[in-house]
Amino acid sequence: MRSHYCGYLNESLIDKEVTLCGWVNHRRDHGGVIFIDLRDREGIVQIVFDPEIAEAFYIAEQVRNEYVLRVQGKVRQRPEDTANPDLPTGQVEVVVSDIEILNASETPPFHLDEAHDVSEDKRLKYRYIDLRRPDMQNNLQLRAKVNSFLRKFLDEQGFLEIETPMLTKATPEGARDYLVPSRTHAGEFFALPQSPQLFKQLLMMSGMERYYQIVRCFRDEDLRADRQPEFTQLDIEMSFIDEATIRNLMEAMVRQLFKEMIDEELAEPFPVMTFAEAMQRYGSDKPDLRIPLELTDVNDFMAEVEFKVFAQPASDPNGRVAALCVPNGAKMLTRKQIDDYTKFVGIYGAKGLAYIKVNDVTAGREGLQSPILKFLPDDAIGKLLERTQAKTGDIIFFGADKAKVVNEALGALRLKLGEDLDLIESGWKPLWVIDYPMFDWDEKEKRLTALHHPFTAPNITEPEALAASPETCLSRAYDMVLNGNEVGGGSIRIHDLAMQSTVFKALGIGEEEAQEKFGFLLEALKYGCPPHGGIAFGMDRLVMLMCGASSIRDVIAFPKTQTASCLLTSAPSEASQAQLKELHLKTRQAVV
Ligand code: AMO
Ligand code: AMP
Repeated sequence: MRSHYCGYLNESLIDKEVTLCGWVNHRRDHGGVIFIDLRDREGIVQIVFDPEIAEAFYIAEQVRNEYVLRVQGKVRQRPEDTANPDLPTGQVEVVVSDIEILNASETPPFHLDEAHDVSEDKRLKYRYIDLRRPDMQNNLQLRAKVNSFLRKFLDEQGFLEIETPMLTKATPEGARDYLVPSRTHAGEFFALPQSPQLFKQLLMMSGMERYYQIVRCFRDEDLRADRQPEFTQLDIEMSFIDEATIRNLMEAMVRQLFKEMIDEELAEPFPVMTFAEAMQRYGSDKPDLRIPLELTDVNDFMAEVEFKVFAQPASDPNGRVAALCVPNGAKMLTRKQIDDYTKFVGIYGAKGLAYIKVNDVTAGREGLQSPILKFLPDDAIGKLLERTQAKTGDIIFFGADKAKVVNEALGALRLKLGEDLDLIESGWKPLWVIDYPMFDWDEKEKRLTALHHPFTAPNITEPEALAASPETCLSRAYDMVLNGNEVGGGSIRIHDLAMQSTVFKALGIGEEEAQEKFGFLLEALKYGCPPHGGIAFGMDRLVMLMCGASSIRDVIAFPKTQTASCLLTSAPSEASQAQLKELHLKTRQAVV
C-alpha cells in the first residue's frame, strides 16, 4: 500500500512520487492550504493540500486527528522559512494529489502530545493509542533490537534456545504463585513458573550444555515501579563452568549490547564487591555507585556513650550505628527538609534520624550544632569527625538500630539525598555483587530462608559443614547491578544430592515435603548431574535503563497496574458458573 515510511522522506527524494500510509497527528488550516502531520512507525512528515487539487482538498477538510490515511503525492523542498529543523523530515513536504481515508477516528481520549499530562490509568486503558506515541514506539523498537542482539550473541556462543513449560509445578523464587486449576484433575492446580529454574537445571542434566530462553515469568508479589506480576527474563544456564566463566561471558554480552544498541561504554571489567562490603558502605546489595555518599560505621566508639539510642545498638551484635556524611548538607538542608527525611526513614522502621551540623570543623564542639551533642563526649566527637572526614558545611546523619533497619533506612536515604541534592553522576556504573550469605533469618516465621533460591550452591563442599552452621555459610551467587538496579542474578548450582537434601533441611523443608515438591529434582540428581550454573536477566529492567525510562511499564506493551490488573481488557474478571463447575471450583466472599 505504501512506497515509503513517513519518517524516511528527505531531500534525496525531492520531485519523486511517493505513497504514504499513517495516522493524522495534527491538521492545520492555513488560509486555504491544509497541512497535515502524517505519522507512522518511523516518524512524521508534513503533507500539504492545495485547494487547486479540489478533490483531495475536499477530503482533507473532513479529516481529523488519528484518522488513518493513504496519500499519494510529490516530495518537494520546504521554503526555507517554513523548514522544521527539529524534525528529521523537516526539510521536505509532500504535495498530495490523491488521498484515501482508510479509517475515521472518533475524537481520541487524549492527544498524543499531551500524554504526559494524562493519568497513567487512562494511558493504560487506551494503550493502543498510547503506544502510537514516538517515545513508546522507540522503546518497543529498542526492545525488539535488544532481543535480536541477545539471540544472535548467544547463538554464536553455542547456546540453544529451548522452551520450558508454562503449566508446571511451583518453582520457589520467593513470591506467591499464580495457580491454574486443572479440569482433568479435580482439586489440583498447575503453577505458572516464577522462573524456569528447575527446568534449566534439568536441561543441564539432559546434556544440553548451554541453554537460553527469553521467557515470561509470573510472580504474585507486591508491585513497584520496577516489578510486574508477569515479566520477561533472559534465562541462561551452562554446564562445566565456574563463576569466572559465566561472569566474564555475561559482562562481555552486556558491554557489547550497550555499545551496539545505544553507543555507551561500560567499564571493563565490571568491579566486583562482596555483599558484606556493599551493605557496609551503601546499606544495600544493589548500590547505585553514581552517588558519591557512603555509610561509615561508628559502633566502636559509640558503645560507651551516655546516649542510649546509640550505645545500645552499638553493643548489640546484631545492631549497627552508622553515619552518613552529606557534603554541604548543613548549608543546603532546611529544618523542614530534615524533618521530612526523619519521616522518610521512618518508612523503613528507623525510630529517628539524629544529625550533627558541622558549622566549623576547626572549632571542635563549638563548631557543631545538634540536639544530641550534649550526650556525646569529646573523644567520640573527635573520632566521628575524623572517620567521616566531615568538612565545614556538611551534615552527618545517623542510623542506630538493628543492622537490617539501619541499612534499609540509610541505604534509602542515601538514594533520596542523591536525587534531591542532584548528586547523581552521569554515566553507567555496573557492578557484580558476590559472596552472599546462603540464608537469611526470617524473624516472623522463625526459620531460615534462601537468600537466592534453594538450588544455589554454598561455597563449601561438605554437607556436614553446612548443616553445622548454615547461618555463617556464603553462597556461590552473583548479581549484576547497574546504576542501583538489580538487572540480573544467578549462581553456581548444587549438583550433589546430599548437599541439596541438606539445604532443604536447613530451610526447614522436611523429607516428605521435599519429596512432594522437588522429588523429581532429587531423583534426577541421582543419575549423573554435571556441575552447572547460570543467570537470569530482568529484560524489562535492562531495556528500561537503556531507554532512560523511569518505569518498566514504559517498555512493556501491555503492562499491569500496581494492583496487578489490566485496565485495557479488565482482567482479571469473574468466571461463569459453568466454567467454575468444570474446574471443580466454588467461589466465596472474601473473608475479611
Ligand atoms: P531472580 O529472582 O533474581 O533470579 O530474577 C532474575 C532477574 O529478573 C528480574 N525480576 C523482575 N523483573 C520485573 N518484575 C519482577 N517482578 C521481577 N522479579 C525479578 C530482576 C532479577 O535480577 N532463577 C533465578 C536466576 C538464576 O539463578 O539463574 C531467578 O529467577 O532483574
Ligand atoms: P530522642 O532522644 O528520642 O529525642 O532522640 C534524639 C535524636 O536522636 C532525635 O534527633 C531523633 O531523631 C534521633 N534518634 C532517635 N532514635 C534514633 C535511631 N534509632 N537512629 C537514629 N537516630 C535516632
